[in-house]
Amino acid sequence: MKIVIAGVGYVGLVTGLGLAKLDNKIQFLDIDSNKINKLKDKELPFYEPGLKELFVAPDVYGNITFHDSYSKIDWVNLDIFMICVQTPSTTDGTLDTSFMTNVFSELNLHLKNNTIVCIKSTIHPSAVNSFLESSDIKSERIVFNPEFLREGSAIDDFFNPDRIVIGSDDLDNAQKIATLYENFPSEMLFTDPISSQLIKYLANTYLPLRLSFANEASQLVSTMGGTLGDVLKGIGLDTRIGQNYLRPSPGWGGSCFPKDLNEIQNLADNNSLNLPIIKNINESNNIHMEWFGNQLIEIKKEKKLQQIVLLGASFKENTDDIRHSPTLTIYKNLKALGEKIYIYDQYIELDEDFDEITNFEDNTLYVEMFPISDNVFKEYKEKLSKYENVYYFRFWEEVLDI
Ligand SMILES: NC(=O)c1ccc[n+]([C@@H]2O[C@H](COP(=O)([O-])OP(=O)(O)OC[C@H]3O[C@@H](n4cnc5c(N)ncnc54)[C@H](O)[C@@H]3O)[C@@H](O)[C@H]2O)c1
Repeated sequence: MKIVIAGVGYVGLVTGLGLAKLDNKIQFLDIDSNKINKLKDKELPFYEPGLKELFVAPDVYGNITFHDSYSKIDWVNLDIFMICVQTPSTTDGTLDTSFMTNVFSELNLHLKNNTIVCIKSTIHPSAVNSFLESSDIKSERIVFNPEFLREGSAIDDFFNPDRIVIGSDDLDNAQKIATLYENFPSEMLFTDPISSQLIKYLANTYLPLRLSFANEASQLVSTMGGTLGDVLKGIGLDTRIGQNYLRPSPGWGGSCFPKDLNEIQNLADNNSLNLPIIKNINESNNIHMEWFGNQLIEIKKEKKLQQIVLLGASFKENTDDIRHSPTLTIYKNLKALGEKIYIYDQYIELDEDFDEITNFEDNTLYVEMFPISDNVFKEYKEKLSKYENVYYFRFWEEVLDI
């Protein structure tokens, strides 16, 4: 099929390349001309395992073109216009609809009859209805196809999703989107638009809830003197609970959980619902990151160390995305308390708000912020063996022999 992908970020680029691999003709469209020019030069805007290989594969590269303006798109006989632009929170926690609004005002100028508008971005249908009110686009042309890929394993998630959700009031249009994924080994769920987006929002509510549960449990275990791995395993062996994603961490972050939690809370508030569990998930994470920072100060004192180095700037492993990274929050919290603190990351260059170090030093507490590969651990271990009085802290395991 002939498809435009609007918004060439994590979701747009991965989805577009995946669909190109399945022999669709993809026109990538982004208003960031710098990004588009780099892509034309085969330079990727972010790191994702397997993305480069997929991008340059001849059967993919032959199916893609890049454009930095809506007027450069070939709109004739376009089957699908897929929206993958960002839907962040504003500073007061409300939904920033400006990127979506811009897309719809362009669509109003350019979209031809019969092109389906497929929404991959996370946004609830009531917001989309407000865009449609000021446009000629009929709601039947809209199909919601929320995206569940995880940064760090996005390519695999594209080709092997846990489920495919398609929400629309028009069965024919929903079926046409479904044909994109017809050979996927995944259950396909056809729903109304509201249900499709609530699946996305509530999944992004449950996942951080589970992470925060593991983190609150780990505070308790650490304070009581238990063994964290044993406790979490013991809980997760209950088949009603399960072990997957019962993952303790210094905190969770990323571009999606914090803002999707804000938005589900806004939806609750706007509908006069009191949902205390959901209301407090972001707060639980903030409290945990403060607790974690205090733990680091305690360890530093106890081991008579002079400074703290956080290892890894991104919000989790296998990505260079620093949006809402716990590393940056914990850095700022500790800096505000007057601590001597640095970030070490071999791949990510941070702005001047953060002090980065490029070499290891003596008398330092090193903190692994997310699970690293055995190879990287070996590399750290070799480097650190040359330094005096260093302590390596991995929160989710017993003390490591370093
Ligand atoms: N990142 C994830 O892991 C992930 C996973 C599932 C769902 N989502 C959802 O997918 C959506 C996109 O997220 P992302 O992380 O890929 O965003 P992103 O910030 O990485 O990319 C968005 C891109 O859209 C472009 N853009 C903005 N306005 C535009 C316009 N009017 N026309 C064309 N392009 C425009 C931006 O320049 C940017 O390149 C969000 O709603 C997000 O919640 C993200």
